[in-house]
This record gives sequence, C-alpha cells and structure tokens, in this order.
Amino acid sequence: MIEKINTIADEISQFFTDNAEELEQFRIKFLGSKGLIKQLFEEFKALPKEEKKTVGKPLNELKQSAQQKYDDLKQKISAQQQQNSFQNIDVTRPEFPFEPGSRHPLSIIKNEIIEIFNRIGYTVSEGPEIEDDWHNFTALNFPPEHPARDMQDTFFIEKGETEYALRTHTSSVQVRVMENSQPPIRTISPGRVYRNEAISARAHCFFHQVEGLYIDKNVSFADLKQTLLYFAKEMFGEKTQIRLRPSYFPFTEPSAEMDVSCTICEGKGCNVCKYTGWLEILGCGMVDPNVLKNCNIDPSTYSGFAFGMGIERIAQLKYKVNDLRLYSENDIRFLKQFTGEV
Ligand code: DAH
Repeated sequence: MIEKINTIADEISQFFTDNAEELEQFRIKFLGSKGLIKQLFEEFKALPKEEKKTVGKPLNELKQSAQQKYDDLKQKISAQQQQNSFQNIDVTRPEFPFEPGSRHPLSIIKNEIIEIFNRIGYTVSEGPEIEDDWHNFTALNFPPEHPARDMQDTFFIEKGETEYALRTHTSSVQVRVMENSQPPIRTISPGRVYRNEAISARAHCFFHQVEGLYIDKNVSFADLKQTLLYFAKEMFGEKTQIRLRPSYFPFTEPSAEMDVSCTICEGKGCNVCKYTGWLEILGCGMVDPNVLKNCNIDPSTYSGFAFGMGIERIAQLKYKVNDLRLYSENDIRFLKQFTGEV
C-alpha cells in the first residue's frame, strides 16, 4: 500500500499543465469520487489495525498534496485566462460614443429663480427634507389638531416623542433661518418637498419649491407686491403682469395667491389659461406675527413677507410640459430637450 501511495505521490508531484481540460482530467483521476485516492481510502478500511497506523498519515498527505496541486494549477490557469482576455482587447477600435448629459429642466429653472433673487440681494438657504412637526407645522402657526394641517397630505415617518415627517413645503426653512439669525433677512430656499398624493399627470408624491422670505423694519405689502412683479417680469418677460387674489395660509396674514398674465396668449385667453388670461404661480403674504414670535423675532419691531412657488409649475409654463411625471422618469429623450445658460 505504501508503495502505491509513493507511486501516486510521484505522479502528482511531476504533474504540470496549463490547460484547463487536462487539469480536469487530473482532478477526476486523483480526486474524483471514483478516483485513485478514493480507492486507496477504500482499501485502507480493510487493512489490519497495525498497518493502518503506518499507512494513515502518508495517505492523508497524499490527498492533501493532490488537492494542493489542483488548487495551485487552477489558480494559475484562471489568472492566465484573464490575462489573455485583456490581450484580446483591440485598442485600435474606435471608442464608444460618449454623450454628454444636459442639465435637468427643473435645475435650469431653479438656477434661474436663484439668479433673479440674487440680483436683489437674496441669499440661498437650505433645510432638511426630514423635518420635525415644529418646523413643518407648529412654528408656522398650524396648531395641533388644526384642520389646516390637512391642506397638505403628509408622509409621517416616525411616531415617537417627536413626530417626524417628510417636509410638505419649504416654508419649514423660513423657520430655521429665522431661528438662527436676526433681521434683516432676505433669503430664498429651494428644495424638494413630499406629499402623500396619488401620482398622475397633475400631481406627484414629490416635487420642488422655492420659498422666499424678507424680514426687516417697515416691510410692507407693497414691498411684497413689487418684489413679485420684478420676479414675474424677469422670469416670464417684460410685458408680464401680475394679480393678487386673497387667500389663506396659517403662516401669513394677510395671504394671497399670485397669478401672472398668461405666457402663451399674453392675457387674451387660450386653452392653457382656460380663457381667463391668468395663470396661478405662487402663494404669499405678510408673515404672521405668531410665526415671528415662534422664531424669537419681535413682531413689534419687525415685519416681513414670504412666498412659496412650485418649480415644476414654473417649468411647466416655460417649457409647456403638461405631464408632471416626465420630470422624474429620467427619459433621456425628454431630458435632452432643455438647454439653459444656468
Ligand atoms: N407653503 C405653501 C404651500 O406649500 C406655499 C406658500 C404660501 C409659502 C404662502 C409661503 C407663503 O411662504 O407665504 O402650499
């Protein structure tokens, strides 16, 4: 038996191949379930006890050396195969065409809005998309249980001592800015917001807004109106007119919604403005004294205005895109149609 082991051991130690097929033959011959080593183990079982003592160790070593040989060669062969596949690359082939991307239409509009307000001294501030109840609702004068909370269908994400939600509007950022700085404040806050709405051409569960906030001494409704008129003309053209309609928001008093004269028919009436000549674009108002107080700003010294607009809405009017879903589907054919300087 020892002799057999030695002969096989010799054969194994002399074996070499760089061919996967031959290596497989080697495995079958020595390590396979009907292979030589398996047979020796069968024979080993039948040996008398004394002989087992002397044969056991070399037999195990034989098995290990065969396995070792197999593993080493296998590794070498696969490294070689990899090397070959690199060598087969034709470096003279023309490269794949690399198409540069284009800016997303919502980014173009967002940047345009930022530029317009930068020119009259507004900074840009941002806040978290996961917001607590205080910043999204309570500080903005939505008392607990107040039905105005239902104006926006909210995604709540955790119920514990503090209730968190995905912010339903960027008005939450006004609160953060006012809490952290003293007037004069002139800032806009662009960002993504979330509402629990069924997705359709006209509604989505997430969209984008830009919030505006101006707080100083003696800020009046006339300042609000003039600022928004400036914005509308910069955004939609010199001939654009605005109109303010009374509205309600818990965080502003008085509150208004602003329409711009239809960008398509210039006010004459068309199917985009539903023959009214006007298009609604934003909500605004004078910041409610309660909100100022909640953010440690003294309403007897300071006043201010705020406004909030949807970026998709502005983009829809500028680019005449009627289906909101297109903005988040990432269809390259849609996305590459927009070019903008900013
Ligand atoms: N947060 C409001 C919304 O999402 C929009 C808005 C209205 C913002 C009036 C304001 C404002 O700052 O004054 O519907």
